[in-house]
Amino acid sequence: MARITIVGGGVIGLSIAYECQKRGHDMTIVEAEECGGQASGAAAGMLAPYSEIEEDPDDFFRLCQRSLQLFPAWQNEIKLAAQVDFEYNESGSLYCIFHEADRLSLETKKAWQEKFGVESYLLSGNDIREKEPELSQEIVAGLWCPEESHIYAPDYVSALLQACRNTGVRVIEHAGEATLGDDNVVLAEHYEIEADYTVIATGAWTMNWEEKLGCSLPVYPIRGQICAYEGPSLQHIIFTSQGYLVAKENGSLVAGASEDIAGFNTDITAHGIGRLEKWSKKIVPKLIKETPFHTWAGLRPATQDGFPLIGRLQHNPKIILATGHYRNGILLSPVTAKIIADEIEGKAQELAIDDFRPERFQLT
Ligand code: GLY
Repeated sequence: MARITIVGGGVIGLSIAYECQKRGHDMTIVEAEECGGQASGAAAGMLAPYSEIEEDPDDFFRLCQRSLQLFPAWQNEIKLAAQVDFEYNESGSLYCIFHEADRLSLETKKAWQEKFGVESYLLSGNDIREKEPELSQEIVAGLWCPEESHIYAPDYVSALLQACRNTGVRVIEHAGEATLGDDNVVLAEHYEIEADYTVIATGAWTMNWEEKLGCSLPVYPIRGQICAYEGPSLQHIIFTSQGYLVAKENGSLVAGASEDIAGFNTDITAHGIGRLEKWSKKIVPKLIKETPFHTWAGLRPATQDGFPLIGRLQHNPKIILATGHYRNGILLSPVTAKIIADEIEGKAQELAIDDFRPERFQLT
């Protein structure tokens, strides 16, 4: 069994730690601040690759689809291991359009996704409003995807942390920025941790490792601003080309999300939230008189080509990357955990992961 250090206690790091500890490895997580304190805890928690991926029947789509399939059993397992409950809602989704001209893109998406076994139904505006009476009369059609779901991300991440602790993972929080010493020893403010493998799961902060690891790691922070209203309650996740709405069990209606380039700034802006408000009211006219009661932002880790970095470094095979999941960190947590655990154990991968190899970018 291996001693493994994970640098980064977000949803990806926690999921890998839990999976590997369960398989009998000796796990340590080193987190600069608080576990789940960045993008993971700020996410809207949608498990919705069929709505979010428009036209890419590639290995990334397969990765997302596999993770969605893993989620029912995975979230159950985390609840049992953590001994806490959290919201997981197999709500399905409605991708709504406001213009007839957009119908073709729905039909095209439906056709290629059907080849992957995805279940979806093209509905008229009236059929959509039969399912969700609060939606606008301006919606002319939509695609219903019954297999999509969502999770309450802050509680999911807390449960993952608890599951890690309950199963014996050593969790070091507030460790400051970690670095790598000789023989891949992880060095943090008050710690020096020897391990057989080190997994870098540092999300939007991964570029800090370029020099230490001697390869180009183009992962950039893309700010997502989000806001939440008090109701009205919707049964499905509602997508449009300009944003989404998702109702949570606690009575909030979450509206997301911007994609801003603002460095590591997590402030919200009047423009960003204003745009979300405009679209929320267009989708659900009842919101016209409402003001969001909560606004926040998180930093998604975006890579140069849109694919995550998953796998070991060829020139230093004791170092493994699991980062750059951009809009899909919550969704991809179970599949990433299994891939990394299999990689460490030298098992054959069930999915093609070659397109995600971390050294695919050249140092400039
Ligand atoms: N997956 C939703 C978002 O990143 O906003």
